[in-house]
Amino acid sequence: MDIHSWSRPDLIRVRHLELDLDVNFSSRVLAGSATLHLDRISGNELILDTRGLAIGSVDNAASHELGAPDPILGAPLRIRLLPGSTWVRVHYSTSSQASGLQWLDPPQTAGKLHPFLYTQSQAIHARSWIPLQDTPAVRVTFDAAIRVPNGLRAVMGAEMSGGDVLQSRDGEGAVFRFRMPQPVPSYLIALAAGDLEFRALGERSGVYAEPSLIDAAAYEFADTEAMISTVEAMYGPYRWGRYDLLVLPPSFPFGGMENPRLTFATPTVIAGDRSLVSLVAHELAHSWSGNLVTNATWSDFWLNEGFTVYVERRVLERLYGPDRAAMEAVLGRRQLDAEMAGLREPDRVLHIDLSGRDPDDGCTLVPYEKGALLLRTIEQAVGRERFDAFLRTYFDRFAFRSITTADFLDYVRRELPNPVPLDEWIFHPGIPAGAADPHSHAFERVESGWPADTAAWSTQEWLHFLRSQDRPDMARLDREFHFTESRNSEILFQWLLMAVKTGYQPALPQVGPFLKSVGRRKFLKPIYIELMKTPEGQAMARAIYRESRAGYHPIAQATIDGIVS
Ligand code: BES
Ligand code: ZN
Repeated sequence: MDIHSWSRPDLIRVRHLELDLDVNFSSRVLAGSATLHLDRISGNELILDTRGLAIGSVDNAASHELGAPDPILGAPLRIRLLPGSTWVRVHYSTSSQASGLQWLDPPQTAGKLHPFLYTQSQAIHARSWIPLQDTPAVRVTFDAAIRVPNGLRAVMGAEMSGGDVLQSRDGEGAVFRFRMPQPVPSYLIALAAGDLEFRALGERSGVYAEPSLIDAAAYEFADTEAMISTVEAMYGPYRWGRYDLLVLPPSFPFGGMENPRLTFATPTVIAGDRSLVSLVAHELAHSWSGNLVTNATWSDFWLNEGFTVYVERRVLERLYGPDRAAMEAVLGRRQLDAEMAGLREPDRVLHIDLSGRDPDDGCTLVPYEKGALLLRTIEQAVGRERFDAFLRTYFDRFAFRSITTADFLDYVRRELPNPVPLDEWIFHPGIPAGAADPHSHAFERVESGWPADTAAWSTQEWLHFLRSQDRPDMARLDREFHFTESRNSEILFQWLLMAVKTGYQPALPQVGPFLKSVGRRKFLKPIYIELMKTPEGQAMARAIYRESRAGYHPIAQATIDGIVS
């Protein structure tokens, strides 16, 4: 049972979904229908999750009733089915405030001429744009017809099944058709529409971006095809056909989202030097860990993210060498320790208790970095060869299934008996003794005093250098290394965070423009938190937020509302 869904897939289970939606930018509404094809196990009541949906009629049903909304879960839609019938069609429209949609006005895009829409369904936001069983325990195949204004392109995390029609014959907008033949959990259903251009990267990979970004995006992501082959060599075939990337406008609240066949990515990873492509390795790795073998509930989220960070670092190691992977692992461990120090004990466990909470609350570095560290520790205990063989069979055994932590435990105990104290790792707070201890020689050099020759330093070395400054001499750092002018989003973020912490005046004028130009929660949250610690900072935070809020995604708005109010 998934506590974050009203649905009862044990009684009636949705198997296939047909979406038929109009994208209306002027009213900021998706309107149309969802047809649900069902497996009936017992009883005649189908319960769907909704949030803020206006329900019109329901075809082929005896009756329906929308229940009272819960602040976290939304409202259950209870549908009484006709005897023996295996489908219903729900006519509905979304709220203009839907938590899973961001509607962008032309000025918020790179091209400034066309509006943009994208969805973000993870964790439980799919219900704000589709009435469905919004639990990762249920997988559906789907077909979709999406109508957008002429000149715009719609894309989905799915196969394109129509042609490339940007203009319809009736002049009333173009219809794009999609099909998803592999069953996916609801949090992976994704749609975007905007002025998008496509560029091939390889045989089965490519990138969509606004026209002004497409060259830079294609350069940045040139290694995508090699990354796919690298994971395949270790863990078995890529089972989703194509792997494309979609570069979103800067307000995207995440770094990346592993929508099947089409990763959504922040433009802030386009650094110009391919230094931040670990994000592509990460989202691609989810094609195995997460999209193929899926967490059954949000308490099992570490099965998605911990495995993915582990695989991501293995890809980096094979493509860019052990030094690069080691640097990322050390950065990860350091950030984990820093974040964990501020978390309550129950939130330092891998299998997290989310009763009464929004699953997004569980999205700390614990499932990511502690999860990856557990796998690295098992790998060291049993040897890489055995562990790789284990992972390969794990992905095969559970392919296209949703599993719990208990399923994982049963399996690993059978296949790899007693390598590490698993219960302690998974159900207890903190990092157990005997954990793998990532180490980077490059970072050792970075730590040894004021650097002499930094010409060949990577972004990772710069980040480690900045984070290693106990009492940073901000003026000297800036004079010698010009951090205030950095065009690398990760370095600039780290620098501006330190500038706020230390009150380094010359960099403070950059804080407003930075917070206005990006919506990535990982960048916004720490800087707003730091600003709120002093009276001058509070005034600054409020002034910046007043001008930026409307441009942030609803998810980021909710986070920053909680910090600034
Ligand atoms: N699936 C996550 C993003 C996510 C998690 C969205 C939970 C909503 C709820 C994605 O794979 C991810 O982990 N993104 C990271 C980047 C990654 C390189 C660690 C992010 O967005 O920061
Ligand atoms: Zn992830």
